[in-house]
Amino acid sequence: MANQTNKPRHFLTLLDLDPGELNSVIKRAIDMKALLKTGSDQAADRVFNNKVLGMIFEKSSTRTRVSFETAMAQHGGHALFLSSRDTQLGRGEPIEDSSRVLSRMVDMIMIRTFGHDKIERFAEYSKVPVINALTDDYHPCQLLADVQTFVEERGSIAGKTVSWVGDGNNMCNSYINAARQFDFELKIACPEGFDPKADLVTANSDRVSISRDPKIAVQGSDLVVTDTWASMGQEDEKTARETAFSGYQVNGELMSRAHNDALFMHCLPAYRGLECSAEMLDGPDSVVWQEAENRLHAQKALMEFLLNQ
Ligand code: CP
Ligand code: NVA
Repeated sequence: MANQTNKPRHFLTLLDLDPGELNSVIKRAIDMKALLKTGSDQAADRVFNNKVLGMIFEKSSTRTRVSFETAMAQHGGHALFLSSRDTQLGRGEPIEDSSRVLSRMVDMIMIRTFGHDKIERFAEYSKVPVINALTDDYHPCQLLADVQTFVEERGSIAGKTVSWVGDGNNMCNSYINAARQFDFELKIACPEGFDPKADLVTANSDRVSISRDPKIAVQGSDLVVTDTWASMGQEDEKTARETAFSGYQVNGELMSRAHNDALFMHCLPAYRGLECSAEMLDGPDSVVWQEAENRLHAQKALMEFLLNQ
């Protein structure tokens, strides 16, 4: 259906798409992946023909940059890597002005930045879809890949139990949104002082719970997820955080309390011996490499969806 408002659709959090739309993006991601792998990708071949994606990075990235850039290249489009170090954004040009200018030239913009308010302001002034490629508060693109991976391995995630062990960070907040949009129960274990956003927890208290004991959180779980204890921007807190999070490592002993067929995910980069053991990350329950690859397919489906609005 054509977008009647002339306002572009953005993807700043998982709440920007309704559950039906999110599930169709996941399905399309799985289809596009299969088409790519069988080499019979003709219909999808040029979905980004002559389209340009601007990619603003104010933080480091491996997976996000490569997946977005490859997605555009594989389907006839082009991606521009714009580091804040080398653009006027880094020298203080207002975010509103940058948005007005860039969105008159490119077809979509992806941003990785610090404050979530910054991407909201950027989106407000943009004439084209804006995609959140990670802020301090959310990482919704990663959740598309995570849900795709679960669906590929186990079928629908609706009605399942997911456990988050570790920091109540941007990934954890996005898992709370995912619990609501994809209809699963989320059991979080984090140390006191490292909770996810309180308003999100309250708004989703019918399906989200917090405990201080990882053993409780993983009981009966279908998917156990963790992330680094010190996110980008928290490098100075690394040592203090390692102390606060000791006892929150996902390892074989903890995983044995989840369901027998429970999966382990991590958005990466991972720190073996801290938030997860090496055996966990590299072991049979881990689907982290598939999860990383699915960034490519999920973001293709997302961008196709946004461009078609
Ligand atoms: N998971 C993730 O977003 O990885 P990068 O920081 O490498 O992009
Ligand atoms: N929570 C991590 C995720 C990295 C992909 C960070 O924000 O650094």
